[in-house]
Amino acid sequence: MSALHALGARAARLLDPEDAHRLTIRALAAGFGPGGGPADDPILATTLAGLALVNPVGLAAGFDKNAQAPDALLRAGFGFVECGTTTPKPQDGNPKPRLFRLTEDRAVINRMGFNNDGQDAFASRLQRRNRIGAGVVGANVGANKESPDRIADYVAGLRRLWDLADYFTLNISSPNTPGLRDLQGQAALIDLLGATAHARADLIKTRGDHPVFLKVAPDLHDTALGDIVDAAIRFGLDGLIVSNTTVARPDYLTSRYREQTGGLSGAPLMAPSTALLGRFYQAAAGRLVLIGVGGIGSGADAYAKIRAGAVAVQLYSALAYDGPSLVTTIRRDLAARLRADGFTAIAQAVGTG
Ligand code: FNR
Repeated sequence: MSALHALGARAARLLDPEDAHRLTIRALAAGFGPGGGPADDPILATTLAGLALVNPVGLAAGFDKNAQAPDALLRAGFGFVECGTTTPKPQDGNPKPRLFRLTEDRAVINRMGFNNDGQDAFASRLQRRNRIGAGVVGANVGANKESPDRIADYVAGLRRLWDLADYFTLNISSPNTPGLRDLQGQAALIDLLGATAHARADLIKTRGDHPVFLKVAPDLHDTALGDIVDAAIRFGLDGLIVSNTTVARPDYLTSRYREQTGGLSGAPLMAPSTALLGRFYQAAAGRLVLIGVGGIGSGADAYAKIRAGAVAVQLYSALAYDGPSLVTTIRRDLAARLRADGFTAIAQAVGTG
């Protein structure tokens, strides 16, 4: 990390976390982003449901909710960037404070509640991009809190943004929109995936196809896991993103914010979300692509997700502690670990335990 970025990361830690985040996005959007360090090692090149990635380390949803800076984030070294969650209409989200840094635990609790500018703003920002030669950008879509028909919101998101992103994520796993995670239940999931599959089949006819993923919560029982895999395959989803934040609170958390309501992310999520990823890998038996997210803070963590079955990974919370240069460190370390274990490509390591 350059001295300037180290200073920036330290200054950001002193600010209110939401202010720090807003300033970071604004600086990135204005072109003050970091470079991505050395060019990607060819061993890191891979494909994600047919999309070519220069490296498998992505930025998770929630960081760039309004698609303000995807290209700056790609230049910072991410192999792909997921913008959103975006909802059809703009909404304020929950009252502040709603974002907490659990510094002692290297964790974050958030109850943002899908604060976002809505899909008109999201779409017009993506429309202004020059996508030629740019990296992979996904759009993570959700439902408005007050929507009378949440499934229709997901369909509307796909229709509105279909030509503007490289892949789509149906986010049904945020703990901060009351009742949203009920969409993970079997009957509701079948309704949702039936409606989105129907919309996708329609879109394909005139506007081409894109991968569609479902993002799940880490707090799932085995029956729910089996139901999700069955429904995902039945309705032709490309894969699953495992996982969102957790409502669990491990006993060992020490920060004074540990009892805050919301979703916990960062280091304490690494073990449970990776264990869940492994269970999905077993259950899917090669029929779904898996993206591993939750608690990644090092190359070793990213590698553990890949060995547990992830084709690619994402991170968010660790950036609050280590700054954007973390992605360069992770890429370098991941390449070294692959070589040390005798692999010549990422794909060979997926699911090797
Ligand atoms: C998130 N996350 C998230 N996920 C999502 O699908 N839509 C969203 O809008 C958000 N918003 C959001 C805000 C904040 C402040 C955080 C910390 C997280 C979840 C995120 O994408 C990821 O799944 C988890 O944070 C776990 O990864 P990390 O943070 O442990 O690397």
